[in-house]
Amino acid sequence: MVVKVSIFGMGLVASHYIVGLYRLKEGSMKPYGVPLAKYDLAVDFLEEEIVSVYDVDTRKVGKSVRDIVTESLKDVIPLPSSLPETEVRKGLLMGSAAGLDKLFPVSGRDQEIEPMEAIEEIANELKKDSIDVVFNLISTEPAEPFRSEEELLKRIKEGKASAAQAYAYATYLASKDTGKQIAFINLIPTPLANDPVMVNLFAETNSLLLGDDGATGATPLTADLLEHLAERNRLIRFIVQFNIGGNTDFLALTIPERNLMKEKTKSSIVEDILGYDAPHYIRPTGYVEAIGDRKFVAMDIEWITFNGLVDELIVNMRINDSPALAGLAVDLARLSKALMERGVKGTCYEVNAFYMKNPGPKNAKNEARIKAYYDMLKYLKELKIIKE
Ligand SMILES: NC(=O)c1ccc[n+]([C@@H]2O[C@H](COP(=O)([O-])OP(=O)(O)OC[C@H]3O[C@@H](n4cnc5c(N)ncnc54)[C@H](O)[C@@H]3O)[C@@H](O)[C@H]2O)c1
Repeated sequence: MVVKVSIFGMGLVASHYIVGLYRLKEGSMKPYGVPLAKYDLAVDFLEEEIVSVYDVDTRKVGKSVRDIVTESLKDVIPLPSSLPETEVRKGLLMGSAAGLDKLFPVSGRDQEIEPMEAIEEIANELKKDSIDVVFNLISTEPAEPFRSEEELLKRIKEGKASAAQAYAYATYLASKDTGKQIAFINLIPTPLANDPVMVNLFAETNSLLLGDDGATGATPLTADLLEHLAERNRLIRFIVQFNIGGNTDFLALTIPERNLMKEKTKSSIVEDILGYDAPHYIRPTGYVEAIGDRKFVAMDIEWITFNGLVDELIVNMRINDSPALAGLAVDLARLSKALMERGVKGTCYEVNAFYMKNPGPKNAKNEARIKAYYDMLKYLKELKIIKE
């Protein structure tokens, strides 16, 4: 079996995913950082294959994936000899272009033809390439969920939907036309798995929409620390957490509407896990180019313990940001294929709860990742996706 993968957003996370996958294929590294690598899964990650890639950065469109990853990672990690030669295709800008052109030169198909026509063009390419799994890895964008299918169609036709929403819709169209199940894995904060209108479309085609926003770095750690404190009935006085990074994702977050999207997905852990809304400040806070992809995270949590005394926890860490998410992507592609084969459709909370910062469906709780991990293992064993 081959799991055919398409990627929207040929940035650093996509580069790490592709290089890591092809290094695993040639056996030149161990799968550390791939959560389920120690289990025997129904679908092996070695079956994942990169078939198509899309971007709107005019410096990347038309170039081969091999050239882009070589440029960004040749001084960072060993590159495998086999890398996809696929050319990066032009994507869509839609309503999420604001501010992006100040960071790099951009161009989208929807500037040349009507938005719906551009979306259908991409849907046709997904069909032609027989894509099984689509990753959304574009820059964080401002976006609001749809209230109804009519509103979705209206905003899409007028080019007012976000790019991620348009890509998800193109994926839906591709599976609707062919009857082929296609998974859309949303690793950015745009509410897609948290948008019932979108989830219903995927359920209609027996396909899967996973999301939203990959949980890496500080957020899952904060969730587990909060669970530890909540289990001991300690009263949290405040939580502050900030991130400073130097990759283009952090640069894009210097645009205020984009930063707000991250804050939304990161902050939902507090009330969900504690059961009350402790004062908190949790958001990506700054961009310093020289710090590069290994971001700096600092966290301070203060709480009241027995006899009313005050304890405090301070965490400082440096984390390689993009490879953390790329390791999760290796699991998510094969998991979605296995889930769809077993009839799971719409979205899948059990998987989202572990891998995503803001797990869909809408109003689903964020829980400690340690708990989500064991619940997911049980679920995957019941479905015989993990073989015992
Ligand atoms: N640990 C992590 O790195 C992490 C964790 C969670 C979520 N994310 C999210 O993953 C995404 C990718 O992160 P990255 O570090 O690779 O960022 P990046 O800036 O390196 O890459 C983003 C790419 O998307 C492209 N892009 C922007 N708008 C597009 C559009 N409309 N269509 C197609 N391509 C478009 C950009 O040109 C760029 O090549 C970001 O949204 C980020 O917030 C990352």
